[in-house]
Amino acid sequence: MEKKQLTDYEKYIRTEELLALQKEEGHLACEDELTFQMIHQIAELHFKLIIQYLGIAKRQMLAGDAQGAANQLRRVNMHLKHLPEVFNMVKVISPIDYHTIRLALGRGSGQDSPGFNQILQAGPTLWEPFEQLLSAQKRTPLAVHQKPQENIELYQLMQQMIQFDESFQSFRYQHLQLVRRMIGLETNSLKGVPAQALQKGVRYEFYPVLWKAISELTDWTGSSYNAQPLQD
Ligand code: HEM
Repeated sequence: MEKKQLTDYEKYIRTEELLALQKEEGHLACEDELTFQMIHQIAELHFKLIIQYLGIAKRQMLAGDAQGAANQLRRVNMHLKHLPEVFNMVKVISPIDYHTIRLALGRGSGQDSPGFNQILQAGPTLWEPFEQLLSAQKRTPLAVHQKPQENIELYQLMQQMIQFDESFQSFRYQHLQLVRRMIGLETNSLKGVPAQALQKGVRYEFYPVLWKAISELTDWTGSSYNAQPLQD
């Protein structure tokens, strides 16, 4: 039989390969296994873009381009903001159907997601280049907060880094809510790790110094005004 001629769209997007990456209908543990597998694949694709943007942001910081790096991190944050939405698309699966899927997973665990683990590794590597940008301007995070307009590019980059940290924590928190809905938090996972271990991850920060600087700013302003009760 003659092979079907692919359109340029199919060739460029590689739809044939892409759509052959899911379990076939006859092999699904239940209908919703397709949703479960595809949402994970979609998440991995978002992770791939996030990793590329983080790499570019780091190179731009090293080249002294704070604004360019902030723009890349803005993109990262758009993806991280979107990801918790895809968790809602998994919550449509009933917990009982999920147990059918779970039996087909072997020892598969999101903990072994290559994309997620690369983001975990890449996040902290932005800190050193950021510190270099700060010291080139003889600034500390507190000093940048005190006079944002005088350090606007550094300030905007710092805000994107804080947003990245917050969005990544939110992603982990929303995932925890998904786990709570689907299997509960009082149980052991497939790798034998209590699901509650995820709660520790939710509290992990990439840039603790930046979070501390916000508190320092509050202490600094708090000490400069002597707050009085409002008059009636
Ligand atoms: C029915 C839905 C899901 C359940 C019940 C579930 C369950 C779990 C559990 C129990 C863990 C802890 C590690 C382990 O011991 O396995 C975990 C980790 C993880 N899962 Fe899921 N998961 C679900 C859906 C998803 C989806 C849709 C994604 C897509 C991004 C995902 C990504 C991850 C990641 C990245 C981790 C590591 C998280 C961290 O360390 O904070 N999971 N998952």
